[in-house]
Parts: sequence; C-alpha cells; structure tokens
Amino acid sequence: MKRIFTVVITVMSLAAELAAAPSAPVQIAPALIPAPVHLQVSTGKPGFAMGGGIRVHHSVSRSELGRAAIRALMAAGVEVLPEENVGELTVTQEPHENCEWYAVRVTPQGVELRVASPQALHYAAQTLAQSLVQDAEGAPAIPSMQVEDAPLLAYRGLMLDPCRHPQTVEQTCRMLDLMARYKLNHLHWHLADDQGWRIEIKSAPRLTEVGSHRAETPTLANHDVGDGKPTKPFFFTQDEVRYVVAYANSLGITVIPEIEVPGHSCAAIAAYPELGNTDIPGYAPRVATTWGVLPYTYAPREDTLRFLRGVFAEICELFPRAPYVHIGGDEAPRDQWQQSEFARSFMKEHGMRHAGEIQHWFTRNMAELMAGHGRRIVGWDEILDDGKAPRDAVVMFWRSWVRPCALRRALDAGHEVILSPDSHFYFNFSQGKLPADPRYKPHGCQKAEQDWRHVYSYNPIPSDLSPEQRRRIIGLQANCWSESIADGPKLEYQTVPRLCALAEVAWAPAARRNAEDFLQRVRTHYAWFDSRQINYRREDGAPARP
Ligand code: ACM
Repeated sequence: MKRIFTVVITVMSLAAELAAAPSAPVQIAPALIPAPVHLQVSTGKPGFAMGGGIRVHHSVSRSELGRAAIRALMAAGVEVLPEENVGELTVTQEPHENCEWYAVRVTPQGVELRVASPQALHYAAQTLAQSLVQDAEGAPAIPSMQVEDAPLLAYRGLMLDPCRHPQTVEQTCRMLDLMARYKLNHLHWHLADDQGWRIEIKSAPRLTEVGSHRAETPTLANHDVGDGKPTKPFFFTQDEVRYVVAYANSLGITVIPEIEVPGHSCAAIAAYPELGNTDIPGYAPRVATTWGVLPYTYAPREDTLRFLRGVFAEICELFPRAPYVHIGGDEAPRDQWQQSEFARSFMKEHGMRHAGEIQHWFTRNMAELMAGHGRRIVGWDEILDDGKAPRDAVVMFWRSWVRPCALRRALDAGHEVILSPDSHFYFNFSQGKLPADPRYKPHGCQKAEQDWRHVYSYNPIPSDLSPEQRRRIIGLQANCWSESIADGPKLEYQTVPRLCALAEVAWAPAARRNAEDFLQRVRTHYAWFDSRQINYRREDGAPARP
C-alpha cells in the first residue's frame, strides 16, 4: 500500500481574548487576476476589518512558516502587526500534488492560510492584497471568502532584455512588483546579446569594459538609421544583480539568467576577439550597432569553453536559486563556421557532417557544464535544429511557425517545454495602430499586432496532446525585446495589461477563462496601476501616463 508521509506544520493562532471586530458589511467581491480555481465570497456580510492590519500572535511570528507568511504578506502590501498577543492569522502547511496550491479563508475573526509549500504563501498573500476593498463605511476590509487555487503551469514567466536599451535596477524591480501581483514566478533576464554585455563578470572584465557600450543605436523611428551617438557603458554590477535576485526572491520570483551561446555574441567577441572565428576574411568584431541576426559566433575551441566555464561559474554563484540557466541558442548563423578553416578542420576531426553540429557541440558542453553546477539548461527552440539536444534540456519555443510539428517532436523526445510563441507573447510587438504603438517589423509569420485579447485567446495545452506530452509543457512566458523600448514607461505600456492576460492564461485552465469577465476584472485593477504610476495601455490605446 502506498504510504503517504504527511508533514503538517500547523501554527495555531491562540484564541484572542481581544477578538477581532468585524468590518461593516462588504458589498464588493474581489476581482482576482488570475482567476482562481475556486472562489466563494459572502457579499453583503461583515468581512475582516483591515484598518489596523492583521494582528499576528507571537507564537506565529516565532515559527519559520509563520515568519515566511508575514514576509510574503508584507511584500504583497498586506499590513501585518507581528508580535501581538492577538491571533488573527493561522498558517498551515499540508501536502498537495501541486506544490503551488494554496487556500485562503477569511472570516470577520481572522485569516487562515493553507499552503502546499512556503512558495505558495506568495500567492495567498497576493490574493489577499487583491481582495482588499472598502466596506459599507468606506473602511478597508477583506470580504468573508474562501479561495482554493493552484496554477495550471508551473513556470509563468516574463523575459526582459536590457541589452538593446538599458533598463535600470529600479525599472526591473517595478516589473518584478507587477509580476508578483499577478503570480508570475520566473523572470528570464536576457543579459548578453550582440548589442551589449550587461552583467559584471570579474574573471573577464573586458566584457563590460568593451562590451557594455556601442558606437551608436538604431533610431526608434527607423531601425535602418543609426543615431550617431556613442552610448554610455551600461551593465549591472554583481551587487546590483544580487539585489535584483534577492528582491525577486522576496516576492517569490526566481530569476533565470540568459547568456547567449553560440550566436548573438558580438559584444563578447568584440571584448575578446580570440573567442570568434578569427581566420575568416574581414574578421573585425565590434559591439553591434544594428538590430537583427548578426554573423558572429563563438569558435569551437577549448579556449572558448574555458572562457564560458569562467563566466557561467560566476553566473551560478550570482543566481544560486535558479534551477535553470538559459544558454540562448537562437539565430546562430552557420556562415562563419563554414568559412573558417579552423572550424572546418574541427568538424572533420569530430566527424561532423555539417556546421549545425557545431551548435550541438556547444549545447552539449553547456549542458554538461551546468549539470556540474547542479543546473539544467534552457535553450531557444533552435537547439533542436539539425540534430538532438540533451534530453534534460528545457526547450523554449518561440518560433510559432515551426511550433506544431517541432513541439510534438520535442515532447516525444522527452524534453520539458516552455512556450513563448511570437504569434502571441512578444510584448515588444504592437497592440494596435496608434501613435504610441511601436512600428515593429515582424518577420516569418510573427503576428504584428498582439493586443490583450489576442494574448488571452491562446491555449497552451492543445487538446490532442497525450497526458505524457501535456505534463512536459511546464510553462508559458512573454518576451519583451527592447529594440523599440527605450525607457521604463514604454516598457510598462508594452507590458500592462497584457501581462495580466498572460498570467491568467498560464494559471487558469481554458474552461475557466472568459475574455469579457477578464476585462471587467482588469478594469478594477486600473486604480492599483494608477497608485503605482504604472504607464499601462488604456482601453482607448493611449498611455496612462503620457
Ligand atoms: C528570439 O526571438 N530570437 C528568441
């Protein structure tokens, strides 16, 4: 018989002589995003009065789970008063098949949280934060309610790109606040590309000395014309990276770093030209000043691997909680390898039939290297082109035009998959045809306009997948490339409210979703956006903070 080991840590609030006073009747039901699996609200009845915050008995604040709950509540903006002799908070951990499962029960007397893991405390806390309304007397209250909830997909992500245009620590943390509010749990941080290397690496200082600035930048109005202005160096110091990672962790978000290998690597090769295919005609690497796919790739040499070992060792130290490290792998042209005498003889020596196998050599080496650090690699779906990738590599599908067949092949080959198709989840793309919308030239069959309704219409789990295939789809992510996004307000305009739609698609099963209902709920969130001065896209398409 299957034995179930049950560990239940219960932190009981000691009944209060000083019982909580109920709020006046609460008429407003919370408009939760993402929609929870189960919500039962008692409107028209007293709820929990939040005027003085939630008072926490010292027995709760002394337990580890209780302290984690207090931290999660405070990070979500829910006021708590620890170290009181009054117990209004109960926190219990109990087993559940979904480790992100949580349940919340609010009564006039207090708040009970039940969670499958400390991570799920963040979702319970955000649910409470979103449920804070006014009672019939205008005082802050949470309605009496019961919520039981767990996400559809374990990985719910957003990718930020500080390579094409700088994004400050403050802007990044504002995006983390937004992600946490909507229960996204992974920030994919794209830290190195052709146009800039954005993270301090102590063992390779030229990466930032040379690679963090460029001679000019394509203008926003016309990507084919440069602005003629050298940029200032821009990169995150290791202390700044630690700060962002700790800030994200405090909100229940894991940061997944990405360093591109073997393509999109002009900035690194400009810093250390010996890393590239030095023997090709006209070899002159420099930090890229144009967008798009550039020809520079790392040369398949032991010295390149030694360099990457050093870089990724520091990356693993800076991102201690990241189970995955993203190695890029997209859009790596084969041309330089085909031209290089060295690369050709390397191929011959290794019995390779075509240059695409050099990319697989890099992917395999990176997977081994990361396994040595106890991590798995994530790669864009090109890591499956021209061959196979190690089975435990997570594949991030972005090319919607190759998705249907390639996705199934990847799932059948045993890969876990994160979906981020450019047909729906490229938040750099326009949301309409208004002056505020970037004129972004899509290629392939990328969808040029992706408003929140389009994002919301996506079904991550096609009905014809087998249960095994379905289990391997672990996540959904939106990518926000920054070629057309030069500042924080623009980043917010491109992201909000599409991020809310992404969150609901990743969290709620298709049967629970309804676009009109979502729109009604999102409308109640504008006040929160306004209170944080978030430059969201209004329904008429105008930026909220022009
Ligand atoms: C990508 O858009 N090149 C991943």
